[in-house]
Amino acid sequence: MPLPKAELHLHVEGTLEPELAFELAARNGVTLPYADTEELRKAYLFDDLQSFLNLYYELMAVLRTEQDFADLADAYLTRAAAQGVRHAEIFFDPQAHLARGVGMGTVVEGLSRALSRSERTHGVSTQLIMCFLRDESAESAMETLEAARPYLDRIVGIGLDSAEVGHPPAKFREVYEAAAALGLRRVAHAGEEGPPAYITEALDVLGVERVDHGLRCMEDPELVERLVRERVPLTLCPLSNVRLRAVDVLEDHPLPAMLEAGLLCTVNSDDPAYFGGYVGDTFHAVREALGLDRERMRDLARNSFEASFLDHDEERRAR
Ligand code: ADE
Ligand code: ZN
Repeated sequence: MPLPKAELHLHVEGTLEPELAFELAARNGVTLPYADTEELRKAYLFDDLQSFLNLYYELMAVLRTEQDFADLADAYLTRAAAQGVRHAEIFFDPQAHLARGVGMGTVVEGLSRALSRSERTHGVSTQLIMCFLRDESAESAMETLEAARPYLDRIVGIGLDSAEVGHPPAKFREVYEAAAALGLRRVAHAGEEGPPAYITEALDVLGVERVDHGLRCMEDPELVERLVRERVPLTLCPLSNVRLRAVDVLEDHPLPAMLEAGLLCTVNSDDPAYFGGYVGDTFHAVREALGLDRERMRDLARNSFEASFLDHDEERRAR
C-alpha cells in the first residue's frame, strides 16, 4: 500500500503523456512535429527550465475543448490515486491557453468536470490553483485574474510559474494584492533557478503562504532560519530538479539536509509526464537515492497534509 499523501506541486499541463497528446492531436486535427510517441519521448532531454518550457508550451496545442481538459485531469487523477494521492492541489496555466484562443471557461469547466467527481471516482479531493506566467506582463496577469472572476468558486488560489530568472516576484505585487482582496490563497515558484532573494521577495511582497521549489534557500542560512521559524512549506520536486539540471544527480539532492535543518519539506512531481515519475515514483526514487528511512518518508507524507490548504477536519479525513 503506498503512503497516503497530498500532492501540492503539480502542473496539470505537465501530466500530458505522449499517448494522450497524440490522441488529442488526432481528435482535434492538430499536427504535431513528431512522427510518433517514441520520437516525442526522445525530445525529453532538457538543459534547463527554458528548454523544457519550450516543449511544454508547444504540446499544449492539442488541448482545445472542455473534454480535452477533462480527459487530461482524469488521466492524472487515475495515476495519482494509484500512487496513494488522497488530495491534490493542481496548477493550471490559463494564459498559455487564452493565447491560443481557448477561453477561460473551456479550461476551468473542463478541468472541473473531472475534479468535481474525483472524490467519488478516485478517492482524491482536489483544489485548483491558477498560475500566472511570470515571463508575461503584470498587466496580462491582472487581465487573467479578471477573466477568472466568474470561475472563482472553483479556484482556491493563485501561483506564479514559467521562466523565473529576470522575472522577480515583485513584478506581480498588484495582482497578488488584488487576489488577496478576493480571498484567494497565494503561492509562487521561487528559488528553482532564481536566487534566494526571490524567495524572500515572494514572502514579503506577494505574501505567499507556501513556496514552490524554494530549493536555493539553502544558499542563505538566514533565510533557512526564517523559513523554519515561520514554518513556511516548500513544495520540492526532486525529479524535476534532476531533469532540469538544478542538481546533477538525485543522490546530490539537498532534501536530507533540508529536512535536517527543520524545513517543512514536501515532495511532489511538478510535470510528471516529462520528468520520469508521478509522486509515488518520486517518493520511491528519493528513498532509494537519498537513503531516507521509513520514518522520514512518513514525515514527508505528513508534511504534505500539513502544508495543504485543507482545514484540519478535511486533513484528518484525507489521511
Ligand atoms: N511550469 C511548468 N513546470 C514548471 C516549473 N518546474 N517551473 C516553472 N514553471 C513551470
Ligand atoms: Zn512547477
